Amino acid sequence: AAGGEVHVHDFDFPFEGPFGSYDTNQLQRGLQVYTEICSACHGMEYVAFRNLSDEGGPALPEDQMRAYAEQFEVWDPTLFDGEGDFRPATPADKFPGSSLSNAPDLSLMAKARAGFHGPYGTGLSQLFNGMGGPEYIATLLSSYEEEPECAFDSDPIDGYYNTAFANGGLPESCYDEDGHAMVPGSYIAMAQPLYGDDVDYADGHSTEIEHVAQDVAAFLMWTAEPKLVARKQAGLTGVIFLTVLSVLLYLTNKRLWAPYK
Ligand code: HEM
Repeated sequence: AAGGEVHVHDFDFPFEGPFGSYDTNQLQRGLQVYTEICSACHGMEYVAFRNLSDEGGPALPEDQMRAYAEQFEVWDPTLFDGEGDFRPATPADKFPGSSLSNAPDLSLMAKARAGFHGPYGTGLSQLFNGMGGPEYIATLLSSYEEEPECAFDSDPIDGYYNTAFANGGLPESCYDEDGHAMVPGSYIAMAQPLYGDDVDYADGHSTEIEHVAQDVAAFLMWTAEPKLVARKQAGLTGVIFLTVLSVLLYLTNKRLWAPYK
């Protein structure tokens, strides 16, 4: 059985729109949230530490990025005469994988989930608003609620009630005769990770739950799509180039045909 309807809030992220780009401070705050909270269960095994220094990304100074990597131990099979041993991670290593087996890897999560759909499967909403991956993550993290009334009329089920999570189950008594969910969302296996004031930000940014959730969602958008800004710039250059080319071709065409008209 699936959950009820969910509504994903359309946050304004700085990387949206044709001219959008990542906000370095926001990505650094998101990295902090990931490190202090999410990494207790989740991993990010497709992201290399060196990329934390990327321009247009979190842009950590080289020495900070190295120091960050060194906090992690990685297994190196070449050490100890081929027997292998642990050593501190270097910039070339990747983040560890999930430590909790049912917690999915978060490297690509912002591209693996869609927050916006339809209307009626046309995909128009996604064309104008984007896929909504980071919006989904930010909404999910701030959508834990008290169990719905209907839940108390049948056997309890495992998990935590979240009004933005569509893929979990609901207690039997929360479905009507046709099997439709009567409440939004469903039960998720992840306990509420954020409550607001979960972190101390060095830049003094608000630590309300919505802001912390948006910061980590923005960071996960960067891990999933680190080349977003370069791609947008290349696209823009392409459009300008084609515009100029069109004008030149139009004028050439006029000139070539002028004698015959
Ligand atoms: C699932 C993000 C912290 C355990 C997920 C999902 C996301 C996510 C995006 C996927 C939901 C989906 O399938 O649509 C985060 C973030 C965290 C965080 C950004 C930090 C702010 C934690 C912590 C734990 C945890 C601390 C463990 C105590 C899980 C588990 C699932 C999950 C078990 C699978 C849920 C299910 O499929 O029912 N998380 N998480 N997460 N997370 Fe987290």
